[in-house]
Amino acid sequence: MSAAVIDGKQFAATLRARIADYAATFEQSAGRKAGLAVVLVGEDPASQVYVKSKGKATLECGMNSFEYKLPIDCDEATLLARIEALNADEAVDGILVQLPLPGHLDEQTVIAAINPDKDVDGFHVTNAGRLAVGQPGFVPCTPLGCVMLLKDRLGSLSGLDAVVIGRSNIVGKPMAQLLLAESCTVTIAHSRTKDLAEVVARADIVVAAVGRPEMVKGSWIKPGATVIDVGINRLPPAEGESKGRLVGDVDYAEAAAVAGAITPVPGGVGPMTIAVLLRNALVAAHRNAGVALADGAL
Ligand code: GUN
Repeated sequence: MSAAVIDGKQFAATLRARIADYAATFEQSAGRKAGLAVVLVGEDPASQVYVKSKGKATLECGMNSFEYKLPIDCDEATLLARIEALNADEAVDGILVQLPLPGHLDEQTVIAAINPDKDVDGFHVTNAGRLAVGQPGFVPCTPLGCVMLLKDRLGSLSGLDAVVIGRSNIVGKPMAQLLLAESCTVTIAHSRTKDLAEVVARADIVVAAVGRPEMVKGSWIKPGATVIDVGINRLPPAEGESKGRLVGDVDYAEAAAVAGAITPVPGGVGPMTIAVLLRNALVAAHRNAGVALADGAL
């Protein structure tokens, strides 16, 4: 048996097209475009690439993109003042501060300064709390994208056994909350979990978000399970290669032989993150401008 490949790239493209339609309707109703602001501190090459892609995708969806680049030695007060200005700016619906920040800046302090109703990353404790108690708020983009892919593939997730490997605030914890809200029986596994293979073997849904290349083996996967691989790891270059291959947290070749469906790396979860960010920004715009958006429209 060979698993169906879950095409996140295609799904994300379709979602972005729908967002562009809703963004145009929003502009007509509100008399302005939705706006997303991205703040980048320093010149980390990977972060620069992400920020550029976010800006391009935002414009392509018909929203305004505001970019703020601050020097690597920027002090906390300067960054907090920039966030305060964006909180107060009515043209800005969503604020994203690109992580990781340089070591001298405290991420929790910076995230706490963002107005929770503009926190399109869903990282503010207010939004983490809203998710935990089932109130409307903003949900981190990567796990929300994973749930969209799962529901597209499986329909109802109710009653399914789900194992989330990884307990980060950005992916593992919100992923577990979202699966619980979909009435899954959820296990969160992590680096101290005893007999991870046995825990994974029970799962109808496996979400791997540990950042360790090809750690999840095919022999662990229950036949027919749905595997969502959040990991993006670059292997050291093999002989004759200038760059190493990109691989996920799951051994793809092994798992694809056993699973019912699996996300590839690249082209699985990765493209969903920016698409969901744009979705969150447009939802924020509707809320901030008091323009109605049909339930489940985005
Ligand atoms: N760095 C890597 N991924 C993300 C993300 O989703 N949001 C932010 N703010 N920073 C990131």
